[in-house]
Amino acid sequence: MTSNTGGASSRLNYADKVMLAPMVRIGTLPARLLALDYGADVVYCEELIDHSMLQCQRVENELLDTIDFIKEQAHHPVFRTCAKERDRVVFQMGTADPERALKVAKLVENDVAGIDVNMGCPKEYSTKGGMGAALLSNPEKIKQILTTLVNGVSIPVTCKIRILPKLEDTLSLVQLIESTGVAAVAVHGRYKEERPRHPVHADVIKAISQAVSIPVIANGGSGVINRYEDLQRFREDTGASSVMVARAAQWNFSIFRPEGMLPVDDVIRDYLRYAVDYDNVALNSKYVLQQILQAEQQSPRGQKLLATQALREMCALWDMADYYDEVQVRRQAKQEELERKKGLSRYEPRLVDGIYTMHVEYIRKEYPSAVSPKTILLNWSRTEYLPQPTYETVKQGSDTKFNSVVTVGDKRYASSFWHKAKKLAEQAAASVCLRTLGLHDGKLQAYITEAKDDGKRHVEAHGKSPSVESPQRKKCRTEEADVAKMDDNEDGSEGQISQSKVHTDVETSQMKDVQQTLKADHRVTKHGDGDGVRGGKCHGTDS
Ligand SMILES: Cc1cc2nc3c(=O)[nH]c(=O)nc-3n(C[C@H](O)[C@H](O)[C@H](O)COP(=O)(O)O)c2cc1C
Repeated sequence: MTSNTGGASSRLNYADKVMLAPMVRIGTLPARLLALDYGADVVYCEELIDHSMLQCQRVENELLDTIDFIKEQAHHPVFRTCAKERDRVVFQMGTADPERALKVAKLVENDVAGIDVNMGCPKEYSTKGGMGAALLSNPEKIKQILTTLVNGVSIPVTCKIRILPKLEDTLSLVQLIESTGVAAVAVHGRYKEERPRHPVHADVIKAISQAVSIPVIANGGSGVINRYEDLQRFREDTGASSVMVARAAQWNFSIFRPEGMLPVDDVIRDYLRYAVDYDNVALNSKYVLQQILQAEQQSPRGQKLLATQALREMCALWDMADYYDEVQVRRQAKQEELERKKGLSRYEPRLVDGIYTMHVEYIRKEYPSAVSPKTILLNWSRTEYLPQPTYETVKQGSDTKFNSVVTVGDKRYASSFWHKAKKLAEQAAASVCLRTLGLHDGKLQAYITEAKDDGKRHVEAHGKSPSVESPQRKKCRTEEADVAKMDDNEDGSEGQISQSKVHTDVETSQMKDVQQTLKADHRVTKHGDGDGVRGGKCHGTDS
């Protein structure tokens, strides 16, 4: 089969390929990159539902060098991709509507190599919305969706189907699919009602391969695929152009290695490296590791894995805690570098008409749900025995923008950014105050890209580095991100613990953690004259 060359962007060709099949929860970025490293030519992401994607914004994550599609208020992206897979990743969506499908396809078009529509998922959560296998009995809808996509995007479009009870119906369906202009069709050789334990119908895939001229991607053979050579055999048995595997890869991603499969422990270490590099959600990583371990989950190490919550703990089980720590240090340094590049002057507080002013936009999703600059500032004022901060807000012009000034003690603080709502403007003012005082405003670490140089100088002068996150806070942040991903998960499959209580506990603990940080900072600040900072400079006593 073809070799992995990566490199320059070219239209994805689906002929003569081995592929990683779409798998909910498994097919996130680390697994896809690993499959590519081992020899897969093309990798599909997990199915992502159109409604969910349409709530996402595209964000270039400079810290991780990724493109993230992230929902407002969420702490972890619904879809993360990167340049390394740009030319070989296929974005699979669940949809029942041509217009929604097109909007999603346009959203990701420049970051992926192809678009696929899932027409094979037999699960109720998919079919009851008219998606997945429900589409198989609605050829008109299939035609509309595929035609709209083919005409609407510049990258290849495909779909993944199951077979129908009658061969002639299956053949008519694939011919209709071919007529829409798709680049290929993936066929899971099972009927809608059949489960993975049922033998795959290689003969039906073969008949399909003979009935159309676009590449057919044979799928469903994991039960008979135990090593690399079996991929080739399955391809011959089905007469297909390409082969796509799900479970065989889930058990051991090195199934794609022409040189032979690697021991599971090696695969796990390679997986963890990517999980760490791309800050993959811990619970997602854990789920993937559990699938790789299979029966070994009962082993002492499998039991220890079950008890882990954070990625570092998982790394420690495979002697990779040092790697995790090294990456965190490198990431911290990169973050500081980005901060320096971005905004030294923008975030230097200036005294404008007696008001400490910075250009700060408050974006709600960048803060944990239980934490906001206003609540932090209120708590801080209480511990300082200062009166409650007061906010004065003004409205501007016909486009109705708001700007707030917060008064704390005898000082006033404001952002020069005009917000769309009063409450956002107040949060921004509170954030400016906290930053000017050298205090953490609660923003999630992942979003901190602007300079906090003023605060840093203030605290460093007292021998305390604010930029190093406490292990406790880091753990809380990781857990919260995991929880958010679980909330976002489209799979809905069993085997996961209930998350709602964890969420509450994490938020409470995170709030406490922020407050502890504030108390520590406050003690530092009190060494000075109760203000400690003028225009970003420290005037407190040396300690
Ligand atoms: C854990 C898991 C998740 C899956 N998620 C998806 C999915 O998101 N989209 C999809 O089209 N098929 C999904 N499938 C089905 C597989 O892509 C594939 O069609 C099926 O497992 C048969 O291939 P195999 O014999 O190689 O496992 C999933 C299968 C598994 C095991």
